[in-house]
Amino acid sequence: MKPDLSTRYLGFRLRNPFVVSASPLGRDLDRLLLLEAAGAAAVVLPSLFEEQIEHDSMLVHTTMEHGTESFPEALSYLPEMSSYNTGPERYLSLITRARESLRVPVIASLNGASPGGWTSYARRMQDAGASALELNVYFVAADMDETSEQVERRYLDIVAEVRRTITIPLAVKIGPFFSSTANMARRIVDAGADGLVVFNRFYQPDIDLENLVVVPDLKLSTAVELRLPLRWIAILHSRVKASLAATTGVHDHFGAIKLLLVGADVTMTASALLIHGPGWIESAIAGLGEWMVEHEYTSVEQLKGSMSWRGAPNPAAFERANYMETLASYEVPR
Ligand SMILES: Cc1cc2nc3c(=O)[nH]c(=O)nc-3n(C[C@H](O)[C@H](O)[C@H](O)COP(=O)(O)O)c2cc1C
Repeated sequence: MKPDLSTRYLGFRLRNPFVVSASPLGRDLDRLLLLEAAGAAAVVLPSLFEEQIEHDSMLVHTTMEHGTESFPEALSYLPEMSSYNTGPERYLSLITRARESLRVPVIASLNGASPGGWTSYARRMQDAGASALELNVYFVAADMDETSEQVERRYLDIVAEVRRTITIPLAVKIGPFFSSTANMARRIVDAGADGLVVFNRFYQPDIDLENLVVVPDLKLSTAVELRLPLRWIAILHSRVKASLAATTGVHDHFGAIKLLLVGADVTMTASALLIHGPGWIESAIAGLGEWMVEHEYTSVEQLKGSMSWRGAPNPAAFERANYMETLASYEVPR
């Protein structure tokens, strides 16, 4: 008998656990249709950024007050971002067209760093037809006067503000760099998140040694990076009242299976899809189905969380003991 691959995420019943992660893969309708045809169970659109929204509303205000000529520098501001995700107005129309054309849930993504007017865009995304919203809070806590308590408060205020604005499901994509990640996860859920997306991948800047400038340099993930979300999904599973999505390092069905075993409701993929194209989803779905038959699982629901921290005979394997065992297990080459 064919195993049942369906799973629940943010209240949706999805046909399988493979979701397209926020990235330029979701930038145009044609590719979204290909991804759906390949089996994607839901799609997350690329993020729209706080800076773009604030910039656009500043531009409208200035144009109304003074005319465009008096503010020429504003017109050349953030051009790369607009080509990345189409810009605020066209983003809304992409949501509407995607919802009209796709049968799977279309999750809009809003990305920001401070409470403010831009969060009202969440409502516009909902009104444009978004099935759900993924909120990505991303900033580098470089201010030495800002305490960890203030940093955490900033996250919680943004989540609460967006929560108040919308009625569709809200997932929050977080990073791993909190002093107390488990506690923060619970507080984000208490502030109104229906789901947590674990984890945001922080991109580190590089130095161009010829021109002596700091440059962006995006490297796609590798499969070994999956272990960070693996540990934390295991720790969070069934201990927060929220769906769990795992992102980073899902490069094949084996990675996805591990994440489901520790408690992910869905896995999200960007890098592998950028490398291999939409066909990657088809083979991942087939691989998951075959593995489940071989290992006598009848449904994804049955395997979800069976190896989480709570269910594990040895939860310490996800904590400090694992650190020591890992170090001790290394064989120095002769
Ligand atoms: C080119 C590129 C663009 C991305 N853009 C976004 C984005 O707009 N918003 C977001 O939340 N994540 C973005 N991400 C992060 C991905 O959604 C994902 O979380 C990350 O790449 C880890 O997953 P992966 O290992 O499958 O690549 C982007 C990733 C890539 C590679």
